[in-house]
Amino acid sequence: MIEVGVVGGTGYTGMELLRLVARHPQLRLAEITSRAEAGTRVAELMPSLEGVVDASFSEPDPARLRRCDVVFFATPNGIAMDSAPELLEAGCRVIDLGADFRLRDAHAWGEWYGMEHACPELLEEAVYGLPELHRERIRDARLVANPGCYPTAVALGLLPLLKTGALSDGVIVADCKSGVSGAGRAARVPTLFCEANESFKAYGASGHRHLPEIEQTVTDAAGRAVPLTFVPHLVPMTRGMQATLHVAVDRSFDQVSELFAECYSDEPFVSVLPPGGHPETRWVRGTNHCRIGLHQPPGQAGRLTVLSVIDNLTKGAAGQAIQNLNLMFGLDERAGLEALASVP
Ligand SMILES: NC(=O)c1ccc[n+]([C@@H]2O[C@H](COP(=O)([O-])OP(=O)(O)OC[C@H]3O[C@@H](n4cnc5c(N)ncnc54)[C@H](OP(=O)(O)O)[C@@H]3O)[C@@H](O)[C@H]2O)c1
Repeated sequence: MIEVGVVGGTGYTGMELLRLVARHPQLRLAEITSRAEAGTRVAELMPSLEGVVDASFSEPDPARLRRCDVVFFATPNGIAMDSAPELLEAGCRVIDLGADFRLRDAHAWGEWYGMEHACPELLEEAVYGLPELHRERIRDARLVANPGCYPTAVALGLLPLLKTGALSDGVIVADCKSGVSGAGRAARVPTLFCEANESFKAYGASGHRHLPEIEQTVTDAAGRAVPLTFVPHLVPMTRGMQATLHVAVDRSFDQVSELFAECYSDEPFVSVLPPGGHPETRWVRGTNHCRIGLHQPPGQAGRLTVLSVIDNLTKGAAGQAIQNLNLMFGLDERAGLEALASVP
């Protein structure tokens, strides 16, 4: 069995990791940390795991974490970078669900995240954990930067176009929506029920931290910089995310549909709906799937709208982290991720 440690087990992505690790056939939960809940049984905080997980939260302890085969950091930005060098040195593999290793440019990272990077020397080595783009590199990685939720939804909706040079000149518009769990479990006024419910708002329109990450991925996939506008929105639902992407293409709608079908034909977690389909977030709830719909209204040749939906906590965070672990340890990429959405 592969011994797994989770730092930050009481947050939303940490809880999602616990759910997935508990049902993974080759993983054993060896360490689960929370400073606030140290000593509390996991099942007391998450009764859905009663009889399934028999562990208690403990304070993060580097000596104990070092004994794990792999450690997930489901923590705020700026935490994983303090421990990663020591864990890697001890032979442990590290998957950071935060943003510490997502940008290769330490200076840009410092500007966007408002702190100096603690181990910029690891930024080149870290592999950006989007399997649909970097599968082979992830297999050999010691350190994986698990992508952000918006960057995952946006990248998966654009990859077939970026990889094949099918985009015409013009600005990509990424109009994105997230459920409230995207903001984490810590109490903050904007995510209180009475603040978020029955309302809809954009945020970060003047520059969200996921923008440089999306730009980096788009450049990597296209082999050139492509201008992109990204505006996230908060939707009063618990989980789920949609990226609505408006692009200019130099192929017919049929050709573009074919590109998407080919690009994703062997992907275990990405599927393209028949032309004209509108994916819904509830179809991917609690699953590691991304579902994509393609649209071109009559008379709009050269323009394309891509609809890409994921669950922000699963393909957008913990599920993708497990997918990366499966690749890093030579397991079946689908192991522990077979769940389908329960609808309604
Ligand atoms: N929510 C999403 O949809 C989503 C999607 C993709 C990526 N992410 C990223 O994933 C990370 C976790 O997000 P989240 O939404 O799960 O956050 P969260 O709900 O706020 O949980 C944070 C967790 O980290 C622990 N923690 C906080 N400060 C710590 C420290 N200094 N040392 C060790 N543990 C610490 C907390 O427990 P204690 O304070 O008790 O130790 C808690 O368990 C973030 O970087 C976020 O940006 C989130």
